Amino acid sequence: MENTSLKAYNTFGINVAARWFSSFETREELEELLSSYSGGTIKIPSGPAGSGQKSETRPTKPGANPSLLILGGGSNLLLTKNFDGLVLKNGIKGIELIREDEKYVYVRAGAGESWHGFVQYCLQRNWAGVENLSLIPGSVGAAPMQNIGAYGVEIKEVFYELEAWDLQEGKVFAFSLNDCEFGYRESVFKKKYKDRFIILDVTFRLNKIPKFRTGYGAIRQELDKMGVHELSIQAISQAVIHIRSSKLPDPRQIGNAGSFFKNPTVAADRFEALKALFPDIPGYPSADIVPEYSSGAKNEEHPGTTTGKNSGFPMAGVKLAAGWLIEQCGWKGYRRGDAGCHALQALVLVNYGQASGKEIYDLSEEILQSVQAKFGVTLEREVNIVPPLGG
Ligand code: FAD
Ligand code: EPU
Repeated sequence: MENTSLKAYNTFGINVAARWFSSFETREELEELLSSYSGGTIKIPSGPAGSGQKSETRPTKPGANPSLLILGGGSNLLLTKNFDGLVLKNGIKGIELIREDEKYVYVRAGAGESWHGFVQYCLQRNWAGVENLSLIPGSVGAAPMQNIGAYGVEIKEVFYELEAWDLQEGKVFAFSLNDCEFGYRESVFKKKYKDRFIILDVTFRLNKIPKFRTGYGAIRQELDKMGVHELSIQAISQAVIHIRSSKLPDPRQIGNAGSFFKNPTVAADRFEALKALFPDIPGYPSADIVPEYSSGAKNEEHPGTTTGKNSGFPMAGVKLAAGWLIEQCGWKGYRRGDAGCHALQALVLVNYGQASGKEIYDLSEEILQSVQAKFGVTLEREVNIVPPLGG
């Protein structure tokens, strides 16, 4: 289809058009679309696991295809203008138990499956590991893109492998956990191989014996409120759903793409300096390595404490709450035209109706500058800006 509005295909509800738009539900359909688009003879091996065609070596050349946009649920995108190329919506479905042993089940899901639908499928079968990731919008195929995470869990913990079509070398590669180079809201697909691979399916290794993760934030409190005495993955999922629904805007009502920025990590000594100036500043132990490496003795007695000298974050650093930094700069609840900063969660930028992608981007730039000016901390956007703006 030519000149198709993408408004219904992105959760920000930005009304831009795609030069060409199509969707695919199988590898064969994808192959046909890519072939006709490139005028070539693309042949995607049928799954599973690339049917023996997967290569052992990782591709080395960097590469991108800016005239092609693969779309899942459009829940982590800010579209800044009409897309002058081909937009392909991934609709590859199917969930399959491929093997199991005493401890684990290995489950493959098509990239076009809904993420929350997949979580529910697992909950119904008592397969544990994704319950804390309940209600995250979007597709299974986009989940590894930024190693989705919430309430103390990231998908890298249950990820086994994925298959992706390489637009550059024209074959299917299988990526193991190591190959994906997962980090906080990062993977090889978001950086080094940006716009190069189409993820076709993802295999997860889920636990038969659950390891309950209730340490993060308000989960325990919510479980108490719900009157839960015996923990289960279903109860944790419900608690997460309640918490999320209480503060994150529903994109069907107010356009948004979740957290607009990442939570930044700073070195322990930077955090101490900030704490001296802003005593209430929240900080959490972070596994992310900070550029400005800071040394210091680890506080074994109180690991993870956020106060005092050598407060337990010597190596990796301290994660700051971007929502708090933004709120302190006075943005929470701010609205200009139809672009705004959500009143219940300052980290979420919103479209009240007719905002353009550029207006939301400009607001994000002002927020970024003010956080930089007040705290000397540089925020990094989490949302994918398509096409990119700025320097
Ligand atoms: P899209 O927005 O369609 O795509 C995102 C990027 O991935 C684009 O660059 C796209 O080209 C690429 N892509 C998509 N599918 C494929 C594929 N098959 N192959 C190759 N590239 C692909 N995220 C979290 O991590 N944690 C949260 O708690 C969270 N909460 C959210 C809450 C709300 C209300 C909203 C709106 C978003 C939230 N998000 C969260 C962000 C978002 O839901 C996730 O990043 C999700 O994985 C995006 O999936 P999608 O299918 O919508 O991706
Ligand atoms: N905070 C404020 N004001 C705000 C918002 C947050 O002060 O307006 C402070 C509070 O101190 C609060 C802390 O920030 O305790 C953390 O807030 P919250 O628990 O809401 O989580 P978050 O750090 O804002 C992150 C993820 C979310 C994820 C939640 C739960 C990022 C960028 N965001 O948000 O992911 O759902 O934790 O794990 O890491 C997303 O990626 O799109 C997303 C929604």
